[in-house]
Amino acid sequence: MKGIKIISVLFIISLIHSCASDSSEDFTDPIPDMVNYTNHVKPIISSNCISCHNSNANPIAPFPLETYDEVRDKTENENLLARIQLPDGATLIMPPSGKMSQTKIDIILKWKNQGYKEN
Ligand code: HEC
Repeated sequence: MKGIKIISVLFIISLIHSCASDSSEDFTDPIPDMVNYTNHVKPIISSNCISCHNSNANPIAPFPLETYDEVRDKTENENLLARIQLPDGATLIMPPSGKMSQTKIDIILKWKNQGYKEN
């Protein structure tokens, strides 16, 4: 009896776990101990923001997020952090297509907390 109970508990845990990983996004790497712009923040911005926030002739968004300084400025003045942390579906959420995974958001927050390391 006890064995069956343990097996069903494990089964339920594995079900919950598989549901949780189904709904998680593309970025499943753990959050690095030391976060820097070049290896961690830039790839997130490149794949989620640059399509609009660029310095081409007709950018969709009002300012580029292409360099370390540009991303750092927007993060320091809190606008960037505010906009990526709105509830999913909020009108002002960035990117407009929907909130990023919590891992990506946490990486950007950690980058700030660790003093905006570039490399
Ligand atoms: C589909 C195009 C698009 C994408 C992708 C996009 N943005 Fe934007 N973003 C805009 C537009 C357009 C505005 C200006 C209108 C507004 O504020 O909503 C804007 C405004 C902002 C602002 C407001 C700046 C201010 O001074 O108030 C921030 C911060 C921002 N975006 C950050 C980001 C970040 C970070 C990402 C990626 C995680 C991102 N955006 C992805 C189009 C986009």
